[in-house]
Order: sequence, then C-alpha cells, then structure tokens
Amino acid sequence: MRLENKVAIVTGAANGIGLAISKRYLAEGVRLVMADIDADKGRAEADGLSSEGEVIFVQCDVGDKASVDRLVASTVDYYGRVDITVANAGILRTGAFLEVSEEDFDAVIRTNLKGVFLTGQASARQMVEQDPQGGIIINMSSVNQVLAIPQITPYVVAKGGVGQLTKVMAISLVEQNIRVNGIGPGTVATEMFHNNIATDEKALAAVMSRTPMKRPAEPSEIASIAVFLASDDSSYITGQTIYADGGRLPLAYTC
Ligand SMILES: NC(=O)c1ccc[n+]([C@@H]2O[C@H](COP(=O)([O-])OP(=O)(O)OC[C@H]3O[C@@H](n4cnc5c(N)ncnc54)[C@H](O)[C@@H]3O)[C@@H](O)[C@H]2O)c1
Repeated sequence: MRLENKVAIVTGAANGIGLAISKRYLAEGVRLVMADIDADKGRAEADGLSSEGEVIFVQCDVGDKASVDRLVASTVDYYGRVDITVANAGILRTGAFLEVSEEDFDAVIRTNLKGVFLTGQASARQMVEQDPQGGIIINMSSVNQVLAIPQITPYVVAKGGVGQLTKVMAISLVEQNIRVNGIGPGTVATEMFHNNIATDEKALAAVMSRTPMKRPAEPSEIASIAVFLASDDSSYITGQTIYADGGRLPLAYTC
C-alpha cells in the first residue's frame, strides 16, 4: 500500500473519476472523505465502499466557502488532519460561443475554478496548521487547460484558470511542505461518455480522430495518476499538470 493511513478528501466523489480515485485510494490504505453535492449517490457509494477501508461521506458544494470550510472541519473532527486533497468536482455546459448565457458561464466558473480555489485554500490552511505540517493537493484539470473547444467556452476558461491556480498554489505553499499538481485527462469513459459520445457515431468519430490511441481513458487510468501524485514517488514534482490523453496534445492535425 502506497498511501497507508493518509487522510484524503476527494470532491466530486459520487461519480466518474472521483469515484474511481476513491476506490483506488482505499485500496492504497487511505482514510477517506468522499465529498459531493449529490448526497444520495455519495452516501450510497461511500456505504458500498465501507468494506474496502475507512470512509465517510460529507455533503459539500465546492462553490460555497462555508460548505467547503465545513468539509475540512468535518474531516479534521473525524480523522484529525488532512494529508491529501483532490479537487475533482466539475460540471460541463455546452453551447456555441455566441449563445453562452451569463448563467452558464457563472455556474461553470463557480464550480470548476472557484471551487478548486476554495477547496485548495481551505485544505492548505489546515495543512499549514497541523503537525507535522504539509500535504498534497491535486487539482483535476483537463486537456482543455491548453486546448480550446468552441462548444464549451466556460469550461475551457475555467480549466485554463486551474492551470495557473495550480502553479500559484505550488509556489506559494512550497515552504510549508505542500505539493500542488494537476491532472489533465483527455476523454474519459465515465457515464457521460457512455451515454452521450459512445452512442453518437458522429461525436465518437470526432473525439477518436483527435485521439491517437483511439480509445477513451478508463477512470482507473486517471486514478493511478492521483496515487502517483499523492505518493513520495512524485516527491520532486510540484506546479505541474500531468496530461493523460492518449496522445491528443502532441497531435498537430489529422490527414
Ligand atoms: N470525463 C471526462 O472525459 C473528463 C475529461 C477531462 C477532465 N474531466 C474532469 O474530471 C472531473 C470529474 O469529471 P467526471 O467526468 O468524473 O464527471 P461526473 O459528472 O461523472 O462527476 C462529477 C461529480 O462532481 C459532483 N459535483 C458537481 N458539482 C459539484 C459541486 N458544486 N460541489 C461538489 N460536487 C459537485 C457531481 O455531483 C458528480 O458526482 C471534472 O473536474 C472534469 O472537468 C473529465
């Protein structure tokens, strides 16, 4: 086990990538807090994983400071400290640039950018106070940190911001023994992929034409990066985003 007895918070843990990270962290010996805005699904998943290790569920809206502060306080009440935080919760709204509503823009920035800031800041404040001082923060980004897709303007803007946030946090917290890194997945085979892209021949062809490996990532392939970044195997890495994209970013164009 690579993370034995480490206390970890994973946001957006009720589904998809966050759920895969939760499962993998428990297998690595983590004492886990699964956090999500969806209390029914989150609680059910945490109950289902209780035979795998020590896990609790805390309902949290990452866009709300008081809610995030309560998440960290609940974690400290229960486990005594926070060693690892994965700011993973995120949402997607689609639409052409000229049609993007103020509401959609605000909603995506609130969850995907402000949520990552609030989660990281509250976690870091605890990591600075505790003894021994320090910890690991992992921000879930996307290839859209650097790649623009016109149909998802607010998402692209938020993920671009997450990339800079990761760098600023890493530099700000280096002396307090806190490492901060990002993960930038390409397309991942979560429920959203199976329900929308995989069943739509045109959408699937469009994604795969930009993916040299010709397949989406499994959520477990993203979870393994979250283990690496939380472990001492990545002890000299901070302020970086690791892209797991099946070769998508290196691809200039298809013929
Ligand atoms: N699936 C992909 O292809 C893909 C690719 C690149 C990056 N990502 C990123 O990975 C992360 C997880 O994505 P996923 O595909 O697993 O999505 P998902 O929709 O399966 O899971 C996201 C989870 O976040 C929760 N959530 C939403 N708003 C929240 C809030 N305000 N507070 C707390 N929890 C909230 C949802 O309830 C859900 O359980 C996101 O940041 C996403 O941008 C996903």
